[in-house]
Amino acid sequence: MKFLLYFLKLVRKNILSRAVIILVGVVVFLLFILEFSKYSSSVNKARYTKKRPDEDLEQYLIFVGGIPRSGTTLMRKMLESHPDIRCGPETHVIPWLLKDHYEWTTSTKEFVRLVEAGVAPHALDNAMAKFILSIIVHHGPPAKYLCNKDPYSLQATTYLHGLFPNSKFILMLRDGRASAHSVISKGITVGNWNIKSYRDVLMHWNDEINNMYKECLTSGPKVCLPVHYEKLVLQPVATTKKIFNFLGIPWCKEVLHHEDHANETKLSAYELSTDQVKKPLYLEGLTKWFGKIPPDVERDMAFIAPMLKILGYNPEERRPKYGEPDDFVLKKLNI
Ligand code: A3P
Repeated sequence: MKFLLYFLKLVRKNILSRAVIILVGVVVFLLFILEFSKYSSSVNKARYTKKRPDEDLEQYLIFVGGIPRSGTTLMRKMLESHPDIRCGPETHVIPWLLKDHYEWTTSTKEFVRLVEAGVAPHALDNAMAKFILSIIVHHGPPAKYLCNKDPYSLQATTYLHGLFPNSKFILMLRDGRASAHSVISKGITVGNWNIKSYRDVLMHWNDEINNMYKECLTSGPKVCLPVHYEKLVLQPVATTKKIFNFLGIPWCKEVLHHEDHANETKLSAYELSTDQVKKPLYLEGLTKWFGKIPPDVERDMAFIAPMLKILGYNPEERRPKYGEPDDFVLKKLNI
């Protein structure tokens, strides 16, 4: 009874209601702080773990490669003339990483150490896939189909296909004598090739295309398509239709006019074919090497570069005819 009277006295003097208001205020303020901190941590989390929808390891990717000077950049630009495809310039880091991975996993000593540490194979493959995909996704604008053109990546076709089971590969093939002439006449550094010697360059070409071709065949015809540069420039209509059929992407005639789309995707100032792929298709690349190979190398060609024959080129022929241009080329080049 005494407490009730005391309480009524406080209410009358307005002291208790003020205390209640302050208490409610403090509680509301604390709740606000709590909610705000939850909200800001979720915003930060979203920012740092933000994934673009195309960063999915199951997604469809296209890899283009081959020996340098085999028309890989031309192939890239023709693909990119399609409104749904983006490749972008060579990333360099992807083949470097693949080379490192090859060294880590083929050196028994290193591999055993990695397995013992739980790094290989699963953790390593997971990290490789995420790194490669992130580079492909983030080095250019989004597109329905992403593609990567780093010529030497196709040394690791089977491994890449294991990382990205829904990927497809285009292996550019070109007469090794033309590629060798291109490398030597332009003084292009390629690995440890001796670019003063046709014999040495052709031997390297042979070894490397042998490896890439095997990788492509092992992956199977649904996964890897070898494309002859000569066919691409002489019969671009049939060849690009075959390529798009393999990719499972509807063909469109824009891919025959890559020069009209030259500036739509980035061309690196550091890539040697950049100026060439801004031009419409031309046929000079087929014959430029005629008469340029030293006679002793021509004499031993079948022995130096047996892959020529395997890929359908005649090593004995010194001025091969690669086929007839199609009507599109005849019209375009006014032949
Ligand atoms: P050449 O140096 O013999 O001219 P890559 O991009 O794989 O390095 O290949 C370069 C080759 O692609 C060049 O070899 C060139 O012939 C060919 N190329 C580039 N643009 C071309 C175009 N517009 N038409 C025909 N061939 C082209």
